[in-house]
Amino acid sequence: MLLKRTATCGELTSEAVGRAVVLNGWVDAYRDFGGLVFIDLRDRYGITQIVFEPDAGAELQAQARELRNEYVIGVKGTVAKRLAGRENLKLKTGEIEVRASDLVIYNATPTPPFEMHGPEPNEELRLTYRYLDLRRPSMARIFETRHRLAQLMRKVMCEQGFMEFETPILGRSTPEGARDFLVASRLHAGHFYALPQSPQLYKQLLMVSGFDRYFQIARCFRDEDLRANRQPEFTQLDVEMSFVDDHDVTSTMEHLVAEMAREFTGQELTLPLPRIDYHDAVERFGSDRPDLRYGVELKDLKELATLTEFKVFKDAIAAGKRIRGICVPGAGGRYSRKDIDGLTEFISGMGAKGLAWLKVEDQGQVAGSIGKFITPEARALLFERFSPAPGDLILIVADTQAVSGLALSSLRSKLAAELDLYDKNAFHYAWVVRFPLFAWDAEENRYVAEHHPFTMPLFEDLPLLDSDPAKVRAQAYDLVINGEEAGGGTIRCHDPAIQSRIFSLLGLTPEQANEKFGFLLGALKNGAPPHGGIALGFDRLVMLYCGLDNIRDCIAFPKTAKGTDLMTGAPGTVEPKQLKELHIRPLERL
Ligand code: AMO
Ligand code: AMP
Repeated sequence: MLLKRTATCGELTSEAVGRAVVLNGWVDAYRDFGGLVFIDLRDRYGITQIVFEPDAGAELQAQARELRNEYVIGVKGTVAKRLAGRENLKLKTGEIEVRASDLVIYNATPTPPFEMHGPEPNEELRLTYRYLDLRRPSMARIFETRHRLAQLMRKVMCEQGFMEFETPILGRSTPEGARDFLVASRLHAGHFYALPQSPQLYKQLLMVSGFDRYFQIARCFRDEDLRANRQPEFTQLDVEMSFVDDHDVTSTMEHLVAEMAREFTGQELTLPLPRIDYHDAVERFGSDRPDLRYGVELKDLKELATLTEFKVFKDAIAAGKRIRGICVPGAGGRYSRKDIDGLTEFISGMGAKGLAWLKVEDQGQVAGSIGKFITPEARALLFERFSPAPGDLILIVADTQAVSGLALSSLRSKLAAELDLYDKNAFHYAWVVRFPLFAWDAEENRYVAEHHPFTMPLFEDLPLLDSDPAKVRAQAYDLVINGEEAGGGTIRCHDPAIQSRIFSLLGLTPEQANEKFGFLLGALKNGAPPHGGIALGFDRLVMLYCGLDNIRDCIAFPKTAKGTDLMTGAPGTVEPKQLKELHIRPLERL
């Protein structure tokens, strides 16, 4: 029998006293005081206390005594004020209780594998019993935020005249730089669909069709190494616009960003958001997604090669490498020699061969691993670059541009977090713009697209496509929030000649380009408007606004770091018959 609910477990207050109600939910807690049995009943809206009194009859009380945590029940009763002193002011429903007159047990469950309110269960257990994990109130709150974010995006995009579309999941490979997930075709032996790494090409084609302003909350699939902020299957707010330049795209998105900030953090953003050139970002912060909640900027220290006799520095400059450093306020007193050895170890994983350090002492003195090399001139240089205070710690890395940048930006964020150099509740938004169009892939000995191959160069850099492709900058923009890449986009090549030139610089012959992207080149020739767009990482935004460290916590049914689903057992084996239908013969076992 179903007792039809008339109220949720999160809504009854003293105004409802005297009302007859039916509540449905899960038993959150059970207390038997001999004469009285108390139940905390939980649904996703909250918790309401139910009391089974002797007056209600021996039969009902006996039934109530059978209840255990996580049983699913329906209760009929009357709302009553709790006895004075028994209120729970932390709960909205804490002034009342429901005096039960009827009880139906819908589902008597075995003891759950973990407590809904206890300490965080281990992740393997959580993912195996994900449906129970999601029942925990802390998880329910995350998914409410996720839902609200999706609704807010739809609202703001619609208000700005965007149309929502769906694009194929079974499609042609779109290069976003990851490996494709492939789906074998039954009807076409030896042919495969690729799951979209993003709707990139489809949204560009919609611009050619004249749809002007497109958006989609889109699923994307990328077979790449997983990290704390990466899943093989994730969601983007995907956007494309016609007849726009990069400022049109970023300012359109800023309306949404401002609404998100207001809704989820109560912050009123000042628009436009700051824009940092890619070049300045990597120079000042060592990273193209700088965390701007604190300073601790990188400084170039190449003069140390001449102002000191330290061979490592001299060799670095002779080899075309860089000497760069940061000065961390207050770290000198907090970090022992052993701690600093730990930091050296930390960056050795990034390829850094060493970490030189100096503690700033009173009266303008410095001491540390390279103290004996520091001449008065070298010290003057350090003081000029960093203006340090006593107690600060100067950390220096001599290495390639890439390694020194990665090592120092990682040290910067690690130490800033450990030393509480910023407000952990603050949000800092910025655009990083004008990325290089190409990156050099030393392994493959060719250029690869920094963003994706459909990106328009800066107009003033077009001549460099022929003379110095590495120097070409792109009409590209990334949205960076607290050091996290929350989104990225570009203005596209609507000119088939430029697009073909870029394909050839990426090492694609005209035949290969035609085979892979002939439909796009064809469309560009058939009335493509100037267009551009962006995609925001939807899951990453939920992570940021919920203060999560791991993306799995904001995806209802995520994959483990190894790409498996512990609950369903995916990926699983299939019947030989299915493989045969798909014209797939497994490789012989080795
Ligand atoms: P991009 O590849 O930069 O651009 O992706 C856009 C944003 O999506 C998020 N993201 C991810 N989130 C979780 N797991 C992943 N594996 C993952 N990969 C990316 C990031 C990222 O900033 N088509 C282009 C957009 C465009 O040019 O319009 C694209 O997909 O937050
Ligand atoms: P050494 O003279 O070998 O004892 O090194 C002195 C200091 O220089 C140690 O703190 C090393 O970690 C550091 N060091 C070594 N190589 C580098 C490098 N490439 N960049 C910065 N510091 C380095």
